Amino acid sequence: MSQEEPVYPVHTEIQEKASIKSLDQYREIYQRSIHEPDHFWAKYAARLEWFYPYTHVQQCDMKRAVFRWFSGGKLNASFNCIDRHLDKLGDKPAIIWEADEPGSGHTITYSELHEHVCRAANVLRQFDIKKGDRVILYLPMIPELAYMMLACARIGAIHSIVFAGFSADSVRDRILDCQAKMVITADEGLRGGKKIPLKSIVDSALRGVDCVKSVLIAQRTFAEIPLVPGRDHLLNQEMKRQRPECPAEWMDAEDPLFILYTSGSTGKPKGLLHTTGGYMTYVAATHHHVFDYRPGDVYFCAADIGWITGHSYIIYGPLANGATTVMFESTPLYPNPSRYWETIERLKVNIFYTAPTAIRALAREGESHVLKHDRSSLRVLGTVGEPINPEAWEWYYKVVGESRCALVDTWWQTETGGIMITPLPGVTDLKPGSATRPFFGIQPILMDENAKPITSQEATGHLCLARPWPGMARTIYGDHERYVQTYFAPYPGYYFTGDGCRRDKDGFYWITGRVDDVLNVSGHRLGTAEIEAAINGVFQVAESAVIGYPHDIKGQGIFAFVILNTEAEDLSQEDLVSAIREECRNRIGKLARPDKILIVPGLPKTRSGKIMRRILRKIAEGEYKNLGNLTTLADPDVVDFIIDAHKTMDRQT
Ligand code: WTA
Repeated sequence: MSQEEPVYPVHTEIQEKASIKSLDQYREIYQRSIHEPDHFWAKYAARLEWFYPYTHVQQCDMKRAVFRWFSGGKLNASFNCIDRHLDKLGDKPAIIWEADEPGSGHTITYSELHEHVCRAANVLRQFDIKKGDRVILYLPMIPELAYMMLACARIGAIHSIVFAGFSADSVRDRILDCQAKMVITADEGLRGGKKIPLKSIVDSALRGVDCVKSVLIAQRTFAEIPLVPGRDHLLNQEMKRQRPECPAEWMDAEDPLFILYTSGSTGKPKGLLHTTGGYMTYVAATHHHVFDYRPGDVYFCAADIGWITGHSYIIYGPLANGATTVMFESTPLYPNPSRYWETIERLKVNIFYTAPTAIRALAREGESHVLKHDRSSLRVLGTVGEPINPEAWEWYYKVVGESRCALVDTWWQTETGGIMITPLPGVTDLKPGSATRPFFGIQPILMDENAKPITSQEATGHLCLARPWPGMARTIYGDHERYVQTYFAPYPGYYFTGDGCRRDKDGFYWITGRVDDVLNVSGHRLGTAEIEAAINGVFQVAESAVIGYPHDIKGQGIFAFVILNTEAEDLSQEDLVSAIREECRNRIGKLARPDKILIVPGLPKTRSGKIMRRILRKIAEGEYKNLGNLTTLADPDVVDFIIDAHKTMDRQT
């Protein structure tokens, strides 16, 4: 191990009972997983229950970007998450719903989950949802969201969950892209005491849309909502009418399980398609090893199911392993900054998984909120979504984890389906800020600027993956060519992650962040192109360029440089800024509102018209010198204007 960085060794108490108990054991299994992948993955697939055996473990071709895992095999994700546990775990809590008001939620056992999901599946059937149909779920973090996901899986419908913070326009785009037949929503969402009018957003989203035949509404707040006759139905009433049994459809391992939209560097969000057998195998295996999950543990992932983390590590992974999973409706700060720790004490949580942005926000509130709650049940802490800065890491490890818990910084993506680079609690000595080593079967490669793999141990480059793995997304729904171009064309024969990465002399991986035009704001992916398109929708705006800048809590903040039309002169700067923020909120969602907006006379462009974001990034960080070579700019003077504008802005804030 190197001398410069602190290293936190594995705790022997954790190691003794962990599923993988030493670095040597990890290395041996890792080698096998790389040299005999079929044998390795067959073992993990066998942990699921199959209705019918598969013919091949994998038929994959990285060059052609065609991937099939366990095809010919028949199984059902809902059955694997519920039915096969019923004999032994029927009375065990499957989901602990932690509602917005502390302690006001309830527990759902595996038997109860079975009943609810069967009724929900029968409701889907009643509304003519069939295998392969797409269903949009636009729901808050209430049990009905889990029921509807598992109900879709049960009958072979493809769910596409849209995070309940997205705007009507974003919902409409996704509905149209996947040609959804049904939307399931709630009257209102409730988060941190605030209501979100989900049903009315869906009503706006559906204006002019004709693919959606029915809308089901869960009642969270029992607000009065207008129902469109023939289209809208109350979910809970419909569920009550149905039988509590529904056989699970036999799905091929390669049948789609869900579509999840995520932002890319260009164009509209892309619908990543995940299939059944490989995805389930991968999330079950990673949930088991990465969190060192042990039967009887209470497992709490504080993410929202609207993102991939919630799909894989609130629902499918934990339930496939027969775990008790906490579903959290609230926010880390509601009703006060003790919320997580109070919940952990009350529910006796053993494993806790959250995002660096939440850790930074809570660290700022001080230790006292943590210390007043008993955290002795905790054994494993996890983070995901963005690079974690060493200060936040140390706070999480020492203050929350009392320096006795394992901390797993897990790197992965919507596209990867599950965790890819991560410590294992019984294996990995930790360095704050490093996601450490690859999971079994995963082979990271760093590429140099000539698109050649770097062979030296210490290296920095673009992170690629050299081998397929069962959890990978198979395509972008409706646009396979975009899938090929985005992930497999940049480095032929490899999957390109879009992230930059450093490998240190101990072989540890350090993710440095996106190298494409994707921002990571509070762990949420946003494309700069999407935000620019929204800003350019404001009448007074001629052009804009969006970049990310370092932000203490969010990791990255959104910085928009905006050029105005000549007609804009009579509008005050203040009104313009709020018009731009409002447009971003309407087009995408609250999370896309720029933190800083600077009106500039021009943008630094090359002679071919390409915006040089590198220069804007530096200026946004207050770095006015060392801007690199400006001679390729069409109009170098524009840089001085922008610097002056930025200086004035900085003085004002
Ligand atoms: C970033 C979230 C550093 C990364 C599961 C990736 C991380 C993007 C980490 C995917 C981590 C995720 N350390 N960066 N531990 N985890 N990222 O699709 O840039 O919402 O490409 O999936 O988040 O975001 P996504």
